[in-house]
This record gives sequence, C-alpha cells and structure tokens, in this order.
Amino acid sequence: MRTLTTKALKTACRRIYFLLLYVHLGAKKLMENLRTKILKMLINHFGDDERRIEHALRVMYHAECIMTDYDNYDTDITIAVALLHDVGIKISEEKHGYNDGKTQEKYGPAVAETLLKSINFPAEKTEIVKNIIGNHHSKSRYDYPELAILKKADLIVNKNERI
Ligand SMILES: [Fe+2]
Repeated sequence: MRTLTTKALKTACRRIYFLLLYVHLGAKKLMENLRTKILKMLINHFGDDERRIEHALRVMYHAECIMTDYDNYDTDITIAVALLHDVGIKISEEKHGYNDGKTQEKYGPAVAETLLKSINFPAEKTEIVKNIIGNHHSKSRYDYPELAILKKADLIVNKNERI
C-alpha cells in the first residue's frame, strides 16, 4: 500500500477544503452572483499565484460566517473586501520585490477600484472598499463594520496558514 507523503497529504487536504468551500458557496448560488464576478477577476489578477487566491477564499468564508455578528454591515462590501483585500501584493512584488502591510495598503485600493469599475460595482461602495483595503493592516481609521469583519477573518486565516 502506498503511503502518503506530508506534501501529498497537504495537497489532498487542500483539495478537500476547496471542494467543501465550493459546495458551500454553490449552495449560495455562486454561479450567478457578485462572488463569481470578483473571483474571476481575482484569478485573472493573481494568475498562477494560487496561494493568494486560496487565502482570499478562506477570508471570504470566515468573513461571511462572522458578519452576522455585526449590525449594519453590507454583504457586497464584505465580499468585495474579503476577496480583494490583498490585491496590492502583486504590484508591490513587481515594483519592490517584496510586500508588506504598508505596501498592500498603498497599492491595493487603486487595483480594487479598477477591478470593481469593470463590473459596475456602485461607486459609493467602491470608495468604502478602497478605504478598508487601504487600512486593513494598520490601526482602524474608520468604524465600518466591514473593516472589523475583514480584520477578524484575515487574522483567523493568517493564524491557520502559519500552522
Ligand atoms: Fe489577507
């Protein structure tokens, strides 16, 4: 009998995780909604950088679980920031060869704006998305519930990814 290596086991676990995630999202009519549109753009943006795409999906999953604990949150903004919060990484790595919280906050908002414009995401919501992406790694300058949701979800995912 073939024994699985740690790497193969990790890959199998990731595949199962994604299968479950897609089943979960499918139940929410993934194919017709905002998640799909943004997800397609995200995959296009990050290309082969699967790690970033997986991270964004995990953050979205947790953000959607957490958001109901808050009042007055906007589902579309929550989904947009969860999926797009790290889009600045690509530009930062291309320009500087590295990325950190500061550069993610610096480059992310403009990328998110371009992407959201292409799907006619409402301009007033895009402004909030930009503010949140530009503030998700530093002390909160806004009291948007979606910013708090994103920070919590990102923390959960980052902790798990470090294990
Ligand atoms: Fe993140």
